[in-house]
Amino acid sequence: MKKGGSNITRRELLKTAAMAGATLGLTDRHSLRAEEMLAPPASTVIGMKFEPRSMVRVGIIGAGARGTSMLAEFLGVENVQITAICDIVKDKCLNAQRVIEKAGHKAPSLYFGGDHDFENLCRRDDLDFVYIATPWDWHVPMAVTTMKSGKHAGVEVPAAVTLKECWELVDTSEKTRRHCIMMENCCYGYNEMMVLNMVRAGLFGELIHGEAAYIHDLRSLLFEDQSEGLWRRFPHVTRDGNLYPTHGLGPVAQYMDINRGDRFDYLVSMSSLSVSLAEYRDSHIPADSPKRKEKYKCGDINTSMIKTANGRTIMLQHTVSTPRTYDRINLISGTKGVFRDYPARLFLDGQEGGEKWTNLDKHKPQYEHPLWKNIGELARRRGGHGGMDFIMVYRLMQCMREGLAPDMDVYDAAAVTAPGPLSEMSVSQGSAPVKFPDFTRAKWKEAR
Ligand SMILES: NC(=O)c1ccc[n+]([C@@H]2O[C@H](COP(=O)([O-])OP(=O)(O)OC[C@H]3O[C@@H](n4cnc5c(N)ncnc54)[C@H](O)[C@@H]3O)[C@@H](O)[C@H]2O)c1
Repeated sequence: MKKGGSNITRRELLKTAAMAGATLGLTDRHSLRAEEMLAPPASTVIGMKFEPRSMVRVGIIGAGARGTSMLAEFLGVENVQITAICDIVKDKCLNAQRVIEKAGHKAPSLYFGGDHDFENLCRRDDLDFVYIATPWDWHVPMAVTTMKSGKHAGVEVPAAVTLKECWELVDTSEKTRRHCIMMENCCYGYNEMMVLNMVRAGLFGELIHGEAAYIHDLRSLLFEDQSEGLWRRFPHVTRDGNLYPTHGLGPVAQYMDINRGDRFDYLVSMSSLSVSLAEYRDSHIPADSPKRKEKYKCGDINTSMIKTANGRTIMLQHTVSTPRTYDRINLISGTKGVFRDYPARLFLDGQEGGEKWTNLDKHKPQYEHPLWKNIGELARRRGGHGGMDFIMVYRLMQCMREGLAPDMDVYDAAAVTAPGPLSEMSVSQGSAPVKFPDFTRAKWKEAR
């Protein structure tokens, strides 16, 4: 049926949208949805406040390595109650229960009845927030079920695997009016929060360029017969791109006000050859292990470049299969100076002593983030990733209790996760540029 004065039918529009996707070389799994391009803008959740409450009741899905360590962080925050735990492995649920009881809290209800028992946890009426720390493929089904059950979702990184899944999170958050927060702890690191303050105070001038990475030697972990060794190696067999973009990119996105005045526009990506994982496997794993038959597709080092709508550039890297020392780079460069982490160093235009890096010490009294000033010691004592896990959980629970809008929302989760699938697309097309969807539906220009 023709609409308004337009000569184009809905079917034609859908076809055009699908062709646009094809031109960009998008596969079905990743496609920009034609319906999405036509849909009337849904009501945004940007700035949407939590309902204030005196107690936050939390459910946890996934009581593996991450879920268990985060459980300890939740238990350290006042007025938080862990009501229910779910894991397909009964012993992991029981272990979490022991930890909770040892901390002096009431025993939680346990769900270990198979892959979909999390749906029963989500149906409970005594939960406000569900934290999801499961293998990547489960993040979106679990977050969507959580929101559809009327609870806010906190999902581990990366939030999703495909662009379609990123949209699913955005759509569901908007429709259900529930938040979906990606628990990007690196945004709460000591240096990251201090540098964010310095960026906002204008110390680096106008921002031009950032660099971000996840450089972490996970070879041994990837071949274990437990925890991430049971699932995290398989994406290296089926995918080629940046499998884990968010730890490095999250903080740089915050420096650059992504979704708050700027946005990621397009990306080009290149993967190196893939040899390291197989070489490590062949020298560490017995010849008769089925692991010896695996063929790894993912390049050992993936490098992407992102261009933002305001003309900034970001270099984004990923390697977990090469012998490298841990590094997220965390570089921000502007017209007045540059910061680079690992180790933390600073150079401001015109500083004393010429072109030499200095450390952050001189700036701490002025720019150390108030959260770190106030509870940094406690956070460090609790330990999770140098304290940033506690700061993140403390802050999120504070927002939920006081009825504030969260620091990061579903649009941030989608934007920072998208370089995963986008890098795969670019790599598969000889490093061709691929466009970021605008998950904010044109609301990214508004400063917050
Ligand atoms: N933010 C960080 O610093 C950080 C650190 C480590 C891991 N992670 C992320 O946390 C997530 C979990 O990683 P991990 O190291 O704990 O892995 P893990 O394998 O140790 O734990 C995953 C748990 O999920 C459970 N599980 C699997 N399918 C399930 C289902 N259908 N229902 C309920 N439980 C299910 C498993 O039994 C396991 O206990 C991943 O997304 C990972 O990327 C984040």
